[in-house]
Amino acid sequence: MDRWHDCIALVTGSSAGIGKSIAIELARQGMIVIGWARRLENLKIIENQLSSEGKIFVGRKCDVTQETSVSNEIAWIEKTYGKLHVVVNNAGIGRVASLTEGKTQLWQEVIDVNVIAAAVISRETLKLMRKCGINDGHIFFLNSIVGHYITPLIGAGMYCASKHGITCMADMTRKELIASGFKTRVTSISPSYTKSEIFEKSGRKVSADEPMLESQDIANIVVWILSTAPSVQITEVIVRPTGSQF
Ligand SMILES: NC(=O)c1ccc[n+]([C@@H]2O[C@H](COP(=O)([O-])OP(=O)(O)OC[C@H]3O[C@@H](n4cnc5c(N)ncnc54)[C@H](OP(=O)(O)O)[C@@H]3O)[C@@H](O)[C@H]2O)c1
Repeated sequence: MDRWHDCIALVTGSSAGIGKSIAIELARQGMIVIGWARRLENLKIIENQLSSEGKIFVGRKCDVTQETSVSNEIAWIEKTYGKLHVVVNNAGIGRVASLTEGKTQLWQEVIDVNVIAAAVISRETLKLMRKCGINDGHIFFLNSIVGHYITPLIGAGMYCASKHGITCMADMTRKELIASGFKTRVTSISPSYTKSEIFEKSGRKVSADEPMLESQDIANIVVWILSTAPSVQITEVIVRPTGSQF
């Protein structure tokens, strides 16, 4: 990770779960991490914890579905640091809402956070990278195993569709970057069940017998991917907990 020491990383949705673990791990690896979420109080706890370890994490309140808020926060990164090297599009939500009877509002919320926000943030942060001459950065998308396989979970149809959208967006972003001569790498990380707040918030119950990943497992994978040589591009990682039948 020496190459990324003192480089700037943005992690969306870093107030909890996978994003929190990724943000903490990148800061511990020597990166300057900016964490976005709506719960600023959670971000401040992480900021204080890392500060006491001599590491840099700066929590910034940002609702990723609000384009003005996203633009303002990217402008703040430019003004404060003048550069950006790594973006982790992690913020995501699940809603239990079937395709045959579910409410449009719930579908919309899933698409707004999981797809549109990730697309806007990638576009706008890539503009900043170009502007500040970063040609070899890294964009991550937190996808899901259901972005590749159709889930048997009733009520997860729109979530599954949103993650299939991420599979497409990640690879198209990679192709567009190559077409415009950029060496910024793109990786989609697709975990299966991972312990986090997402199930409780979406109203989905997971069986106690279900093998689960830890959010730290995903953070370790992000570090592993960043640590590969610049000539190596890991485009997709599917991660299952050992013993999972999914
Ligand atoms: N856990 C799993 O089993 C699993 C499996 C595969 C993929 N994933 C994906 O991994 C990513 C992280 O999920 P998680 O499991 O860690 O969920 P989580 O514990 O619920 O955390 C979600 C994070 O996203 C943030 N967020 C949600 N809506 C936001 C908004 N409008 N603006 C800004 N931030 C927002 C939340 O922060 P605030 O509420 O403070 O805004 C929180 O920090 C998601 O993309 C999810 O789809 C999870």
